[in-house]
Amino acid sequence: MLKPADSRGKFIVFEGIDGSGKSTQARLAAEYLSFIGKKVHLTREPTTRPIGKLIREALSGTFEVSEATMAAMFLADRIDHIQNEEDGIIKLLNEGYTVISDRYFWSSFAYHSLTLDMDWVISIHEKVIKICPPDLTIYLDLNVASSLNRIDARNETQEIFENREVLTKVYNNYEQAFARYHDVLKITKVNADQGIEEIAAVIKDVLA
Ligand code: ADP
Ligand code: TYD
Repeated sequence: MLKPADSRGKFIVFEGIDGSGKSTQARLAAEYLSFIGKKVHLTREPTTRPIGKLIREALSGTFEVSEATMAAMFLADRIDHIQNEEDGIIKLLNEGYTVISDRYFWSSFAYHSLTLDMDWVISIHEKVIKICPPDLTIYLDLNVASSLNRIDARNETQEIFENREVLTKVYNNYEQAFARYHDVLKITKVNADQGIEEIAAVIKDVLA
């Protein structure tokens, strides 16, 4: 179980559509917090653990599963991410680590509600929201056109979610999900349509 907020590390989540700069900024934030003397653990979802690996295979089309199965796989990966005894988020927070995660449950709300009812996606996360809520969510707000340009420049095989129409819906779903939790959880939007260093400077202020 998570210790009270004042006796544990902080849990910080980076969110945004594909290509919005989450991995870049999560890494820079981790470097900054380490530099100022914090114990930091940088992590991501889907994880690099067995369920996360299975998810990446499904995302690349190696096998087909229903949308609800996919949502449940992400949920299982997330519970394992939170609770595993090796490097689970709760264990690390209790040991005083600042944990930074590149994606968390907001991604499920935004992506799985493309085809499923958002209320259902949120409802299966009820326990996760209760046992391990982020202390801060940093949302990298980038328009879909710029995001697709960055993904193109990265020159990787595009995953199933990476096209204009789909990303526009994902973008709108993020807005909807944040609106629901806006009074309960701390969510900070950062304009991600600027240079890497400029964004990092804004985030540094938020973290301070
Ligand atoms: P995400 O994790 O959200 O998919 P990345 O951090 O991997 O995004 O960034 C996607 C691509 O865009 C990478 O090639 C990265 O180097 C580049 N990139 C990241 N931030 C910026 C920025 N502010 N301006 C221009 N390119 C960026
Ligand atoms: P990721 O590798 O982080 O993509 P990117 O680096 O391009 O942002 O995530 C892979 C995909 O998984 C991404 O398109 C979003 C999707 N996803 C979900 O559908 N549900 C989830 O709960 C999470 C965490 C990610």
